[in-house]
Amino acid sequence: MILASFSTPAPRGKSFAGLAIMALSLSPEGVLAQDRAALEGPGLSIISGLSIIYAVAAVLLVLLGFGLARALGKGRALTSAKNLLNAETADRVAAESGKRESDENFLRLVEGVTDYAIYMLDPKGYVTTWNAGAERIKGYTAGEILGRHFSLFYTAEDRAAGVPAKVLETAAREGRYVSEVTTRVRKDGSRFHASIVLDRLTDPSGNLMGYAKITRDVTERVEQQAALEDARAALSQAQKMEAIGHLTGGIAHDFNNMLAVIIGALNMIQRRIGRGDYNVEPLVQAAVEGAMRGASLTQRLLAFARKQVLEPRVLDANKLVGGMSDLIRRALGETIQTEIVTEGGLWRLFADAHQLETAIINLVVNARDAMGDGGKLTVETSNAAIADTYGRQHGIEPGQYVAICVTDTGAGIAPDVVDKVFDPFFTTKKTGTGLGLSMVYGFVKQSGGHVKIYSEQGHGTTVKIYLPRYFGPKEEQKDAAPIAAPNAKGETVLVVEDEAAVRKLTVQSLADLGYKVVEAENGERALELLEAHPEVSLLFTDVVMPHMNGHQLATEALTRKPGLKVLYTTGYTRNAVVHNGVLDPDVKLLHKPFTLDALAHAIRRAIDTN
Ligand SMILES: Nc1ncnc2c1ncn2[C@@H]1O[C@H](COP(=O)(O)OP(=O)(O)OP(=O)(O)O)[C@@H](O)[C@H]1O
Ligand SMILES: [Mg+2]
Repeated sequence: MILASFSTPAPRGKSFAGLAIMALSLSPEGVLAQDRAALEGPGLSIISGLSIIYAVAAVLLVLLGFGLARALGKGRALTSAKNLLNAETADRVAAESGKRESDENFLRLVEGVTDYAIYMLDPKGYVTTWNAGAERIKGYTAGEILGRHFSLFYTAEDRAAGVPAKVLETAAREGRYVSEVTTRVRKDGSRFHASIVLDRLTDPSGNLMGYAKITRDVTERVEQQAALEDARAALSQAQKMEAIGHLTGGIAHDFNNMLAVIIGALNMIQRRIGRGDYNVEPLVQAAVEGAMRGASLTQRLLAFARKQVLEPRVLDANKLVGGMSDLIRRALGETIQTEIVTEGGLWRLFADAHQLETAIINLVVNARDAMGDGGKLTVETSNAAIADTYGRQHGIEPGQYVAICVTDTGAGIAPDVVDKVFDPFFTTKKTGTGLGLSMVYGFVKQSGGHVKIYSEQGHGTTVKIYLPRYFGPKEEQKDAAPIAAPNAKGETVLVVEDEAAVRKLTVQSLADLGYKVVEAENGERALELLEAHPEVSLLFTDVVMPHMNGHQLATEALTRKPGLKVLYTTGYTRNAVVHNGVLDPDVKLLHKPFTLDALAHAIRRAIDTN
């Protein structure tokens, strides 16, 4: 860098040497390297244009420096500057011709590329250059397309929607327009999937010179992707069908067993009564037990389907788990050691206490089954703040949770079945229903939580339940005190139920309990009866009924008779009372099917509370 010896300050504080070096740094090689890089993202010709301008500027500046030096009468500097200038001019001439050559090489390269359509547009969108790739992809020869507008490549719909103009606008405004997958039209009218990049080209002072456009035909890739997605959808459909097959098969099988018990018992009762033998109590008992098993099966299915009616309240998991310790120890037997570890300062959570207990018991029973030869069971509670990354890795929504972990030192789960254990009816046990973990899963999901299982074959298993932390005001509810005498004190109950058999049974049961009963098969009739019987103190209504549902009925009934007590009953949750499977806090609801005892308590409680 001989030019560095010139140190006369340049107008904007930059030395001549600096400017000359700037110019030299834009050597032909440099430009070629830039242009090569620009093949992937264009912007090419500006740089080679700039290099010419800088080179010329450098020569002019050298000349200017030379003049200044002479004016200062520095003879020796003059001579050496002259020499330098000569040398520089010769270099420049060589550089210029090298650059021209490299530009030509570059153009040839671009023209020869066949995988990409590379072409330029003028500021209005008319095609000004066209390479071999463009001809191959779009079907036009250069002769056919040069001078025509690029909107030709768009579909008629896109043209009608003004897309080409918007694309140019975007590129002009933002410097670039990119579309990963879009549809373009070939000369023969056929369509293809294209990935395009459109770059704005400007001169050094920022004036729009036109656009460089690169288009790739990605039809094959898009079609492969679509085929892959179809295959995936088909697979998941097949898996779904398999799961439904399992589910229906399992339900049918279990229900058949229960129905066999019930029907068998009822048949025998009929026969005995027919011959005057009234010793039917054990048979009645068997039938009731069979039916109760059916009811509990539907509860578990509803739990899995996340359609059960939850009655969440603010809970202290430490208290809940502590309260279960006797039950847990009894369930486990003597060969299994138990440890319950509760974290101090545990956050509160908001969930259905009864369901949570059931979930924990399911886990404990599984742990017991896994530890046939004894072992150790640990139930732990802890606060768990799930961070973004951890959550993403483990499929848990980031946030604050209360974790309840049940760990055993049992047989563990084989890696190839660990993904299936939450499936309904998946069981490896002779007498298992395979519904335990699916209940846990459904309940936890319905409560806004997560459940994770970690298992090592031969060592043991941990199941972790995460339930969302409760942030609201402290409102831990006491369990309502059991009501001693669930019998009637002469009150009148209005029973509304569209299913005749259920209504009949309910009316009989309430009459047995000593209530006076009026009954209606729908909401309209119920409102009439309410007028006719001002002594009605409780409306006991089904929730899901045609025309007027239970909630609408109750709303209307309450405007007519403000002090009226209301108790709902339902087997479903899709209704107006129950929002997202969660009861409105002050609504009373009795699950179907219910026992006489449950009915007696619920009716009494509904009448007695304000
Ligand atoms: N703690 C555990 N250790 C080892 N295997 C387990 C554990 N928990 C669950 N499993 C496996 O997951 C399966 C499904 O469990 P799930 O509780 O859903 O049904 P089940 O226990 O087989 O039947 P049920 O709950 O009606 O007794 C089990 O059969 C067992 O193979
Ligand atoms: Mg189980």
